[in-house]
Amino acid sequence: MTDLLLLPGDGIGPEVTAQVRRVAGKIAPDLTLDERPFGGTSFDQHGSPLTDETLAAAKSARAVLMGAVGGPRWANAPRDKRPEAGLLGLRTGMGVFANLRPALCFQPLADASSLKREVIEGLDFMIVRELTGGVYFGQPRFIEDLPGGGRRAVDTQVYTTAEIERVARVAFELARGRRGKVTSAEKSNVMETGLLWRHVVTDLHAREFADVELEHILADNAAMQIVRNPRQFDVMVTDNLFGDILSDISAQLTGSLGMLPSAALGAPGTPGLYEPIHGSAPDIAGKGIANPLAAILSFEMALRWSLDRADLADRLFAAVNHALAKGARTPDLGGSLSTTQMGDAVLAEL
Ligand code: NAD
Ligand code: IPM
Ligand code: MN
Repeated sequence: MTDLLLLPGDGIGPEVTAQVRRVAGKIAPDLTLDERPFGGTSFDQHGSPLTDETLAAAKSARAVLMGAVGGPRWANAPRDKRPEAGLLGLRTGMGVFANLRPALCFQPLADASSLKREVIEGLDFMIVRELTGGVYFGQPRFIEDLPGGGRRAVDTQVYTTAEIERVARVAFELARGRRGKVTSAEKSNVMETGLLWRHVVTDLHAREFADVELEHILADNAAMQIVRNPRQFDVMVTDNLFGDILSDISAQLTGSLGMLPSAALGAPGTPGLYEPIHGSAPDIAGKGIANPLAAILSFEMALRWSLDRADLADRLFAAVNHALAKGARTPDLGGSLSTTQMGDAVLAEL
């Protein structure tokens, strides 16, 4: 059985996953690694961003690490063949409904953020994003021509009790091992799905998690509070679309989008999907300057959540922290190291 399946993908994806390969070879040489084309790269080779073979390989590995997908080259591909469609298919195919996105400010980077040090120093909160439902997948969805001219586009936001409850349960359980607080973000003031979300989270809390503090917040206010005073949060649970947006905002608190890893988890015993939250960064792809730390930290999460190697995860986390403390910085963090040199800096601390 493959321990870790690498899906480098497009743009900077292959550049950052190459550093994961080096780190894995050093810290865990016993892990078996495999690799498949994915995203636009797979579309070019096989006519599909996610082949049946790659999905089968993902489902039978212990963990999957994805780099990034997408780019202008595939902008006009049919929607179901676009690289992003491959990623959505991988998430639903693997059933990874809970996406953990940790917004954590490494001490040496307290001055690297565009926010003031006193706002972000010591920051450590976790976004739990629902990943396989909501407006990303709701039917119907289409664009139609209108008889009088113009067109009409429809997306559908939809959630069931079961979908909300299972992701909220992950958030409450996580909070128990942290500072014991869950903030649930939705738009119950204007959306039916938001109202159901609030009711289901409230009921689950009363039934099973009364020991955890629960607070509700409207998602627009959550966006503001994240930049005003992010340390008020411990675990924030939210839907697929709000989670996408709130996690990019949170990434900037940590210094750069190139710092934020993620873990997408499904039912116990099934493989997790690990991916940096950033994209293929077409503006810097091929230049060798992408920050590989979000990808390396995604591997750190894989060691912890899927590969039963929390000891190695701790070591890797410390190595990243030490490398940053010694001043290792790619351009996005205000430095001048290349992607490979940042990999070297982490390897040197292992
Ligand atoms: P992006 O995340 O690719 O880039 C946003 C900005 O952040 C760019 O200026 C980029 O250079 C910078 N950046 C991102 N990652 C970085 C890193 N590791 N190091 C240094 N700088 C980094 O978002 P975008 O430009 O909106 O999207 C580009 C493509 O990526 C689109 O096709 C989009 O659909 C796709 N995308 C994919 C994923 C994914 O694969 N998980 C996530 C987001 C976007
Ligand atoms: C992310 C990305 C994806 C998303 C895209 C590429 C499908 O933005 O992982 O945050 O919207 O979920
Ligand atoms: Mn995103």
